Amino acid sequence: MRACIAGWGTALPEQRITNADLEQRVDTNEQWILERTGIRERRYAGETETTASLAIEAGAAAIKSAGLHPDAIDLLIVATATPEQPIPHTGAFVGDGLGLRCGSFDLGAGCAGFVYELVTGSALLTSGNLGHVLVVGAETLSRVIDPHDRSTCILFGDGAAGVVLAPSPENGPGLLAFDLGCDGSATHLLGIPAGGSRLPATPETIEEGLQYIKMQGQEVFRRAVRTVVESAGNTLTRAGVTPADVDWFIPHQANARIIEAAATRLGVAGERTIVNIDKYGNTSAASIPLAMAEAADDGRLRDGDLILMSGFGAGMTWGSALLRWGRA
Ligand code: ACO
Repeated sequence: MRACIAGWGTALPEQRITNADLEQRVDTNEQWILERTGIRERRYAGETETTASLAIEAGAAAIKSAGLHPDAIDLLIVATATPEQPIPHTGAFVGDGLGLRCGSFDLGAGCAGFVYELVTGSALLTSGNLGHVLVVGAETLSRVIDPHDRSTCILFGDGAAGVVLAPSPENGPGLLAFDLGCDGSATHLLGIPAGGSRLPATPETIEEGLQYIKMQGQEVFRRAVRTVVESAGNTLTRAGVTPADVDWFIPHQANARIIEAAATRLGVAGERTIVNIDKYGNTSAASIPLAMAEAADDGRLRDGDLILMSGFGAGMTWGSALLRWGRA
């Protein structure tokens, strides 16, 4: 048995923040941001929007797209780096908002979060007695970026997207192969230093701005390209296919230059690579499912297509998955 994607849904805040808007806030310019990152604008959650509210909206849309009632969902996984609050987990809020009483948990794997929850949800579905698993990637990164740090505040945005996983026969559509990894010797390259067990929040940590994302951009960039190429390549090898067999490459949307470099080295560049970073920036765990849902909605993804996705981020964590598109 396999797990296939039976429905999908997205949620995006209405508030658009353009590069020109950021020019008013920090010492940057529209052209620099566009040339160095490929980002034109990103979305920021409004006052009443949160990670859970976006996840509920995306989850409800995914359940509807699968033609299901919420009662049919047997497990909920929410991948996020920006949880609703430290306790309880975001899935508790999301499950309640969707009217679910099934099990739920959060999954932390940075920008690889969606690939991790896709693999985890598929494994639990195929090994247990589960009918449908809802996996959602949701973020409000606007709440953790330092508004005065020009090297990070230009990159991130908010949004959510999710898919419903359903059983599929052995030779049907669904997850075919994956590769997961994490090099924890690189935790210092990207993270939020304060607010956890290692450094609880105090007036001093807040004074120093340690509740915000800190990133060594150049080193993350270098590792990202290498990691995506290796991990995506391992996944193809495990499935016994070549880059030429891949119909669509859906990479984590972190920087258009990372995407281009990785896609070129992998041999899946050009119109086979799905890119929407210009509209939303880096939405971490939401970025791959957002790009996938858009491509599904506009008819680019067709039944039988071979889809390769690859994410990387804080940790440094990475995950790639190969999927045969289509409902069982
Ligand atoms: N506007 C204008 N100038 C800027 C800006 C800005 N917004 N930001 C940095 N600069 C300056 C720097 O200060 C530097 O100036 P200097 O040469 O005088 O010192 C110059 O531009 C070049 O800086 P670099 O850091 O070398 O710029 P780079 O081309 O590397 O781009 C960026 C920076 C966009 C952050 C890039 O490194 C990047 O995208 N890194 C990867 C980020 C990423 O993928 N994160 C992934 C995971 S996210 C997650 O897991 C949550």
